[in-house]
Amino acid sequence: MPVMAVVNRKGGSGKSTFAAHVAAWCALRGHSVMLGDVDRQQSSRGWLRRRPAALPAIAPWTMDNKNMLRVPTGITHAVLDTPGGLHGFELARIVMFADAIIIPVCPSLFDRESAAQCHAELMTLPRVAHGRCRLATVGMRVDGRTKAGEMLREWSEGLGIRYLGSLRETQLYVRSLEKGLTVFDLPPQHAAPDLAQWQPILDWLQPVLEPPQAANDPVPGAHVSRPLPLKPAQEAMVSGSRLSVLSGARVLSAGVPQAQPQLARAAAPGATRVLPQFLKR
Ligand SMILES: Nc1ncnc2c1ncn2[C@@H]1O[C@H](COP(=O)(O)OP(=O)(O)OP(=O)(O)O)[C@@H](O)[C@H]1O
Ligand SMILES: [Mg+2]
Repeated sequence: MPVMAVVNRKGGSGKSTFAAHVAAWCALRGHSVMLGDVDRQQSSRGWLRRRPAALPAIAPWTMDNKNMLRVPTGITHAVLDTPGGLHGFELARIVMFADAIIIPVCPSLFDRESAAQCHAELMTLPRVAHGRCRLATVGMRVDGRTKAGEMLREWSEGLGIRYLGSLRETQLYVRSLEKGLTVFDLPPQHAAPDLAQWQPILDWLQPVLEPPQAANDPVPGAHVSRPLPLKPAQEAMVSGSRLSVLSGARVLSAGVPQAQPQLARAAAPGATRVLPQFLKR
């Protein structure tokens, strides 16, 4: 099961925004995806509650009868949103599961310094150092054509981290997220510049999230995804012995949504689009 985590020590760098978008992209591709919210703020879980039921579903963690967080049955892809300040044992635990980590970085000096510390710690972990967990940065709330955008690219490449591009600052993200949407859920003509900015990011993520399959396997997105074989560490994650510790997970028993029933009929790309009120004006 491909697992992607969004990590940065710096609060407010866009982790939850980024994680929600990747989860929505997976859902639109027809995958049975879970957005795991490791953050006690539970921003992603709150966003999931707002997500319209008509859209391709994204599952949250589920809680078992021992009050432990679990990956729901049938999930084939996991996106993990993590809290600011994540480091040490908790960071290592995430890396143990992740196939790829994205570090969203805003352009200020403080943001860059914090991201550089996060990167330095990640590089001490063998899975990252040996390339089993791939690492990249994305510029957040910055126009790639500006000096700030170019400086961010140079900064990232100077540290030897792959820079995937930048996402501009726009209220489209803020308003979409308020409605449980992402820019991928909007009619493409309303989000064309932003979809274009996502393209190089998705090009990099695609082989991680949709690893090449055997020739006789069905094409991703053209069917309801079947569970992929789990790696040993992920098996442990699903059976709960390790994942349960991820977020000090005996929390949040109140208001936990169950995996949405329509998960089983995840839509083909572009199947359902809603036009939110803020786009109708
Ligand atoms: N591209 C963007 N354009 C405009 N606003 C954005 C953009 N990306 C993120 N934001 C806004 O920036 C704020 C911080 O984003 P987000 O909550 O995703 O960060 P975070 O790293 O998850 O924060 P925390 O560390 O507190 O969990 C939010 O209000 C979000 O709506
Ligand atoms: Mg967050």
